[in-house]
Parts: sequence; structure tokens; C-alpha cells
Amino acid sequence: MNYQEILEEISEEVQPYLSEGEVASYIPQLSKIPKNRFGMALQTIDRELFYVGDAKERFSIQSISKLLTLTMAMDIEGEKIWTRIGREPSGNSFNSLVQLEYEHGIPRNPFINAGALVVTDIILSKFQNAKESVLSFIDSLLLGEKIEFDLDVAHSEKSHGHRNFALAHFIKSFNNLDNEPSDVADAYFHHCSTSMNCIQLTSACLFLANRGVSPLTGKTISTPNNAKHLNSLMLTSGTYDTAGDFAYRVGLPSKSGVGGGIVAVMPEKFCVCVWSPGLNKSGNSLAGTKALELFAVKTGISIF
Ligand code: DON
Repeated sequence: MNYQEILEEISEEVQPYLSEGEVASYIPQLSKIPKNRFGMALQTIDRELFYVGDAKERFSIQSISKLLTLTMAMDIEGEKIWTRIGREPSGNSFNSLVQLEYEHGIPRNPFINAGALVVTDIILSKFQNAKESVLSFIDSLLLGEKIEFDLDVAHSEKSHGHRNFALAHFIKSFNNLDNEPSDVADAYFHHCSTSMNCIQLTSACLFLANRGVSPLTGKTISTPNNAKHLNSLMLTSGTYDTAGDFAYRVGLPSKSGVGGGIVAVMPEKFCVCVWSPGLNKSGNSLAGTKALELFAVKTGISIF
């Protein structure tokens, strides 16, 4: 398979879609990013790397961080984590509050904001410095690259993050947070502000394609079972209320973020990451989704 040629074709074919979609504006700092950017990278478990466009430009990974924090929290808590968070698609937008009321403060899944706040609470209870521990974890997935938060993005979200504060307080009212809601939200905003590029994200998430072992560092990042669980959750909930349509169109476990990034995994083969900041109505990259759909069609590769 000539992945480089395929990525180049996709980069050409998505150009008309770059003007569509809206850059996230509810985090004011993100609305400053021009939406005509496009980057895509693919890395195989044999460590072959292919990329096009703005694949080396760092962007705000936002909800893709939920995949990395969940990996940490599953390692910390084991199966106990599922007493505090569900594993079903929500069918609602990623920042919705409605289900929490009638489901007694148990978020439907770990990728909606409510679930990710509980995941952050677990990390906050485990580590002295929850923010740094996540950066160190991400650094440990890479080969000597230093990953940082974009503090302007973190502060921008914090000063406008009323929904997430509301979610954290609401979950606390059901006794499903051990820490203070303001501390949980603050750590969560920082995790979301992590700045990475497409190539770094394929490196960081490659363990998911390799039964939990990073092909780059040789380290075991998760058990093979947890790697399977993470992929399953990505498929059913990683792209929120369009997870069904996304599975239909792309057919790969994927996790999106409102910074415009999407990471997708083909177990036993590769990790692919696309970035384009214009979003569709569900908060997933519009051109990024199109690019992954084109990729699935051109390669004929999916988990099905
Ligand atoms: O909490 C938020 O709303 C953002 N920090 C993250 C949301 C997000 O990335 C949803 N993904 N598509």
C-alpha cells in the first residue's frame, strides 16, 4: 500500500471542504486559528511514517486528551472505574448535562465531558500534581519530545467554561467526585489545552494499534485487554453523537477534539491522525472526517 501517495491524494481532495465548518468559538483562543489548515500523518507499528500538509504544526488536542487520561485512569482503577462511569454512547452532545440528572451523576461514557471530569478526578486523587503527571505520561509515549500545555488556551477555556464547571458541581452533588469541582475543572482544562502535532499524536497513540505496547519505546502502556477496551470505547463514543455515522463512514476506532484533530487506530497495523480546525455540528473536524472517509475508501482498510 502506497500510504504517502494516498495521503497526498486526500490532501488535494479535501481542499474544497476546508472552507466549510466552523472553528470552535466557545473557547475564544481557538477561534483565532485559520480554518484552511490541513495536516495528516500515518505511522505503522513497524514505525514507518508518512505525512502531508501541516502535520508538523502543533494544535490544541482538546478531547483527544481524554483518550490519554482514560488510559491512565484505567491503569489506576482497573475495573472499579466502571462503577463511576458508563460505557454506552450518549446520543447527546459532548457537553450535555441532561442525562446526568436521571442517571444519578454517572456519566454515560468516559469521552463526554462529564465522563472525562470523573477520569480527571481519579488522576487528581492519585498524583500530587495532576497536570504535570499527564504531561509526563505523554512525554513517556514519545522519543525525547517535550509536550506542553498551551496556557492561553487553558485560561481562555477556564474563563468561559461555565458548562464544565456546572457539570463538575452537578457530578459532585451525586458524590461522584472526590476532589473540589473547581480543581477538577482546572486540571481538565489544562489537559485539554495540550499542544501536539499529527505526527506526535500518531506516536503517542500507536500502543493502541499494538496491543498496549508502544512500538517506539518498547514500553507497555496498557494491558492488551485495556487496549482493546480503549479501542472499543473510541468506536462507540469517541466521536460523540455521530459515533454511529462515523463508524459507518470510516470504520476505525477514533477520538476527536474541538481543536480539529482526530486520531484513528487500525489494530495490528497503524495509527493515523488528521487535523483541520473547521468543525461540523457535532464538534468533529469536518475536513478531517472527510479525509478519514476518503482514506477508508481508497485503502479499503477498516476494522470490519
Ligand atoms: O470541555 C470542552 O468543551 C473542551 N475542552 C473539549 C471538548 C472537545 O474537544 C469535544 N470534541 N470534539
